[in-house]
Amino acid sequence: MTPHRPTQSPYYITTPIYYVNDRPHIGHCYTTLIADVAARAQRLIGRDVFFLTGTDEHAEKVVTTATEKGHTPMEWATINAERFKDAFAFMNFSNDDFVRTTEDRHKAKAAEYIQRLVDSGDIELGDYEGWWDGSQEEYVTETVAKEHDHKSPVTGKPLEKRVEQNYFFRLDKHESWLKQQIESDAIRVLPEARKNEILGRIRQGLNRVPVSRKINEGDPDWGVVMPNDPGHRVYVWIEALCNYLTITDTEQRRKYWDAPVHLMAKDIVWFHAVIWPAMLRALGERPPAVVYAHAYWIAEGQKMSKSLGNFIEIDHLRAYADAFSLDAVRWFLTTQGPLGANDADFAHARFIEVYNADLANSIGNSASRVGNMIAKYFGGVVPGVCNGEFGFPDGSSLQTARLALENAGKPVADPSRTFAFEPLCRQAVSAAVDAIERIDLEAANQHALSIVRYVDDFISYCAPFTLAKQLDTLDDGAHALRSILYSCAEALRIASLLLHPTMPEKTAELWRNWNCDHLTDPDDADSPFVAPLSELAAWGGEHAIKKDQSISKGDVLFMRADPNAQAPRGETVA
Ligand code: MSP
Repeated sequence: MTPHRPTQSPYYITTPIYYVNDRPHIGHCYTTLIADVAARAQRLIGRDVFFLTGTDEHAEKVVTTATEKGHTPMEWATINAERFKDAFAFMNFSNDDFVRTTEDRHKAKAAEYIQRLVDSGDIELGDYEGWWDGSQEEYVTETVAKEHDHKSPVTGKPLEKRVEQNYFFRLDKHESWLKQQIESDAIRVLPEARKNEILGRIRQGLNRVPVSRKINEGDPDWGVVMPNDPGHRVYVWIEALCNYLTITDTEQRRKYWDAPVHLMAKDIVWFHAVIWPAMLRALGERPPAVVYAHAYWIAEGQKMSKSLGNFIEIDHLRAYADAFSLDAVRWFLTTQGPLGANDADFAHARFIEVYNADLANSIGNSASRVGNMIAKYFGGVVPGVCNGEFGFPDGSSLQTARLALENAGKPVADPSRTFAFEPLCRQAVSAAVDAIERIDLEAANQHALSIVRYVDDFISYCAPFTLAKQLDTLDDGAHALRSILYSCAEALRIASLLLHPTMPEKTAELWRNWNCDHLTDPDDADSPFVAPLSELAAWGGEHAIKKDQSISKGDVLFMRADPNAQAPRGETVA
C-alpha cells in the first residue's frame, strides 16, 4: 500500500511543559489528552502533525522538593520526568517529542534567544520591587497581592516582598500590537471568555516584566544563566516558554512554526497569550495562531488540592482503565472535561452514566448488533456492494421491511419515514472536521455519535430480525436485508473513523474484527491512515466496506457497567 502524503499545511500543537517537583495527576493528563485527540484528528484529516509535550525542570520548587526528598535537583527532576513519560505512555499519547528543559538542545537555543533580545534592546537592566509567589514561581501585581491579603491567589501560601536588580523584557512596547492581534483573532484566544479577560487586562496597561534573578552565593547551579551576564539567571517562565520554539528550531521541523496551537489551562493563559507572543514578535518570529485555555477538573464536587489530598492520581485513572478500558477513560475525559470556560467534575456516578449511555449502549451495542446479524444471516460475510443498489436511500428495501413488520402483526413506527445515510454521514463528517478545527472535541465526538444513534434508530425502525424470518415468503426480502445490514456496517465504519482520535484502541479492535485493514497502513510513520478523511469517509467509496469482506463478531467492545458496583480506586504510592 502506498503511504499517503499529507498535502495540507503542517499542524503544530503543544501542551504546557509540566513542573517536575511532583508526580503527574489528572490535570496534566487532561491537557495532554486534548492535545493528543486534536493531533490524532488532524493526522486523520491528512495534516502533517507535530505534537509536543514535556517537562519544565528549572523551577526553584524543584530544588526545594529535591532537597526535602534527599535528592539532587537533577535526580528528582529525572524521577518525575519519568513518571510523566510513564503516565503519558499509559494514556496512549502520540506525542512526537518530549522535551525536558534540562536538555542541552533546549538550553542552548533558549540562551541564544535571550541574547538576541538583549542585543535588540528588548531586554534591559533595571530595578524591581514586587510580591513574589514562590509556590507559583511568579510575581503578582500590587493589586492582586492586596486583594489576597498578601497570600498566593492560587495556593494561599504567603507572598514574599523582593527587591532585585533584574533584566526586564519591554512588554510595554507591544501593548497596542497585542490588543490588535487578539481583538482581530490573528491570535485566537479561546474560549471567548478567556479572550475578553485577557483584553480587559491588556487595556489596564502593560509594564516591563522581569526576566532574570540575581544569582546569590550558595545558590544551586540550576537553570539557564543570562548569556550576557553570568551574575543573573533567566527566570524560569521566560526560559520555559522558549521550549515551543527551541524544539522546532531545526531544519526539518521549522515548517511546523507556521501556525502553532498552544493548549493549557486558564492559570497560565497570560504567559501564553501576552508575554510569549510579544517575545516572539521581538524575536521576529510568528506569533501563535491559537492559545486555548480550558478550565479545571475538580473531584467529586471539590477543588483538588494538596491539603485536601484529593488529587485524582494516575493510579486512579489506571484503576478505571482496568475496569472499563483505557479508551473509556479517554472518552469520559474528552467529552465531559472542562474544555470550555466552566470547571468539570470527575464523579464516579457520572462516569458510569456516560459509559453506559455512549459506549456500552450506543457504540458497543450497535457494533455487536450489526456484527451479530451479519454473522447470523450471512455467515459473517458482508452482503452486497455499496452502490445505488444496496446503499440507502433505497425506498424499496424500507418498504419491504415495513411489510415484514405488518405480516408479523407488529406496529410500524411512521410509515412515511425515510433514511438517507449518505448525506447524514457526509454532514456529520464535515461538522466534525469544523469542530476539530475549533478544538471542540466534545462536539466532534457528538457528531460521530449521531451516526451511531442513526444506525440504532434505523435498526429499531426496520427490525431486520423480523424481516429475516420472512426471507422465504417475501420476494425482495433477501435484497432488503442485505441492503439494510450493508448500510448499518458502512455507517458504523464512517463513525468509527471519527471516533478514532479519542478511542484509538477500540476502533482499531473493531477494524481488526471487521477486516478493515484497507483503512490503515502500519508502516507509515507519519499517519496510520492510507488516505485523508475526506476520501476514507466517502460513503461507498474506495475505502468503503467491501462486498464479501468477512466480519467477525469479536468481543463486545464495552460491557455494560453496574451503576451500583463500587468505584475503582488506585493505590497511590507517595
Ligand atoms: N511549568 C508551567 C508551564 C510552563 S509552559 C511554558 C506550569 N506547570 S504545571 O505543572 O503547573 O502545569 C499547569 C498545567 O497543568 C495547567 O495549565 C493545565 O494544563 C494542567 N492542569 C493542572 N491542574 C489542572 C486541573 N485541575 N484541571 C485541568 N488541568 C490542569 O504551569
